[in-house]
Amino acid sequence: MLKLENVSYSYQKGGAYALKNLNMDFNKGSCIGLLGENGAGKSTIFLNMLGIYKPTKGKVYYKGKPLSYKKKDLNDFRSKVSMVFQDPDQQIFYSNVQEDIAFALKNLRLPENVIEEKVQKAMKDVGISHLADRPVHYLSYGQKKRVAIAGIIAMDCETILFDEPTAGLDPSMTEAIKDLLAQLIAQGKNLIISSHDMDFIYDVCDYVYVISHGALVTEGKTEEVFLEEKAIQDAGLIPPSLVRVHLHGGIPLFRKEEELYAYLRKQNKKKEMPD
Ligand SMILES: Nc1ncnc2c1ncn2[C@@H]1O[C@H](COP(=O)(O)OP(=O)(O)OP(=O)(O)O)[C@@H](O)[C@H]1O
Ligand SMILES: [Mg+2]
Repeated sequence: MLKLENVSYSYQKGGAYALKNLNMDFNKGSCIGLLGENGAGKSTIFLNMLGIYKPTKGKVYYKGKPLSYKKKDLNDFRSKVSMVFQDPDQQIFYSNVQEDIAFALKNLRLPENVIEEKVQKAMKDVGISHLADRPVHYLSYGQKKRVAIAGIIAMDCETILFDEPTAGLDPSMTEAIKDLLAQLIAQGKNLIISSHDMDFIYDVCDYVYVISHGALVTEGKTEEVFLEEKAIQDAGLIPPSLVRVHLHGGIPLFRKEEELYAYLRKQNKKKEMPD
């Protein structure tokens, strides 16, 4: 899997570093969260991981080997590791929704009927089947975002980087994306997700890296990392609601909202029927 070893990156030669000596191992979970405030360096990390940028210092490793930046090797690599860009306009370029999703599959020279099946399934999974024939450039931001996600999941890569997958999506679509990610994890895919939505990351990720000003602030298992109040605050973040309820409300720490509700119901029952 992917690893960063002493990675620093500067956008301009001799300029300030947007990434500072990062060591990250993406073997540490099947769904890894990348957290940090605006400008922390999340997208820059992803672009280095995918070989779109080359680290100024340090190396990116895939399956134990340093990334090769030759065109053919990068194409091979990107058939296994792909990314949903933060800005859907960076990814969407074809005329209508289904042709856009089919584009990368056509490049893989898959048979027409297989492409058709994958496109239909991806559209269904992200709830855009009704938009199949619509021109992409007239869609809303949230709709474009879903087209971008569909295009990537249709490719069926083993590792998928999601840069802010729920930004601009409404609450019900955020829930649908959560379910979709859970399905991808159940299928054995490795996911790496950047987000400002702490509740979302807390719900779906099993390991988390926290970045601030291009440097690593802390890392660890999801349920442990968010208890590091100072580190989270210094990184400009606010813990997920279930962690806040635990820290400030004296309630046990739960991973799922339903577990909290079950606990509260039980407490209320105890009050109604004291032994
Ligand atoms: N093309 C660029 N040229 C120069 N500097 C850039 C460029 N893209 C990003 N930066 C700078 O690099 C730093 C990291 O930016 P990056 O986009 O990686 O942050 P981010 O964590 O993804 O932020 P956001 O949450 O807003 O998406 C910022 O200081 C940003 O201004
Ligand atoms: Mg970003």
